[in-house]
Amino acid sequence: MNYDKKTIRDIDVSGKKILLRCDFNVPHDKATGVIHDDTRIVSTLPTIRYLLEHNAAVILLSHMGRPHGQWKKELSLFSARDHLEKLLGIPVPMTQDVLGPDTKAKCAALQPGQAVLVENLRFRIEEEKNDPDFSRELASLADLFVFDAFGAAHRAHASTEGVSHYLPSVAGLLVEKELNFMGKALENPKRPLVAILGGSKVSDKIGVINNLLQKADTIIIGGGMSYTFQVARGKQIGASLLDEEHVGYAKEMMEKAQQLGVKLLLPQDNIATKEFTADSQPVLVSPDHFPEDLMGMDIGPKTIEEFTAAIQGAGTVIWNGPMGVFEFPAFAKGTNAVAAAMAQQADAITIVGGGDSASAVEKSGQAAKFTHISTGGGASLEFLEGLVLPGIACLADK
Ligand code: 3PG
Repeated sequence: MNYDKKTIRDIDVSGKKILLRCDFNVPHDKATGVIHDDTRIVSTLPTIRYLLEHNAAVILLSHMGRPHGQWKKELSLFSARDHLEKLLGIPVPMTQDVLGPDTKAKCAALQPGQAVLVENLRFRIEEEKNDPDFSRELASLADLFVFDAFGAAHRAHASTEGVSHYLPSVAGLLVEKELNFMGKALENPKRPLVAILGGSKVSDKIGVINNLLQKADTIIIGGGMSYTFQVARGKQIGASLLDEEHVGYAKEMMEKAQQLGVKLLLPQDNIATKEFTADSQPVLVSPDHFPEDLMGMDIGPKTIEEFTAAIQGAGTVIWNGPMGVFEFPAFAKGTNAVAAAMAQQADAITIVGGGDSASAVEKSGQAAKFTHISTGGGASLEFLEGLVLPGIACLADK
């Protein structure tokens, strides 16, 4: 996939009406609407401000949750709109419908320097179906399409891909930044390139491991999926999470790493417990002596030391997936240690590939010390897998 896409800086936006696809799908309280993490909204402000300052009229588009064509009050974009108004300091009217009379009237009346937000596009089933008539009607509201919803780039929906068939389409500044950092980190990295992978399911990371084996110098595997790799190398895991179906695959990947000269690091010790609870008694175990009744919850101190040393020697570090059950403070040490080691690498390129690891970094208060924290969850994973993202592929090349 070509990462060198035309952006809003490469075209004349003045006096134009623009469909700007954002990803305002932010974690929020369903009852009160209070937003828990506004990173995705804040990250797209540079694009919105650029367009408004350059005299464009901006029609903001987004989805929220998965209503599958049903009108669901708790998935309205109202709270995102209220937050956006505060951040921008201008009124942002919102439509009462999706592509109905109110959307059409509000978009028709929109003047340069003004913005309007269309209600959750997924309230219409045609959005996820990438319906051509719906896409054409959406496109008819504007002169240009700008895609800045990196988090939804892996979806071929009407507002992420469909409209590009009917309007000139370019990238927003957030998408440009994501492609610059993540694309460059994979294609032309400052070496050594160290990839840290965690999370519970091996199946979620198969494509990522396959792709990174071709690119990285070191691959570190922690978190729930590491136990399947330990079994594949004949170690003990007690009652830890095991993805039996993928033991063979894990073995294959370890052999491939060896053939390619990629260093593959697995935990040398773990913190385990009897029960999956926040206050269960932690016990230090090793893959050579892992009691049958204990399950791994985090990486241990020796492992933290080894992983930290690998991070310290890196030119580029890409991280996706926690090292343990970091939602429970007692088992967040490994995840926090990886975040801290990356934050201290001032001379390295440090990238967090979205999802849980991004929330862990935000929580740690060290986000500003990272080179880039991706706003994509599923989209970042597919990007790391080297897959074509429909929302990106449809944009004009430079
Ligand atoms: C996300 O949160 O990953 C994006 O907004 C995409 O949402 P989806 O997985 O519901 O398509």
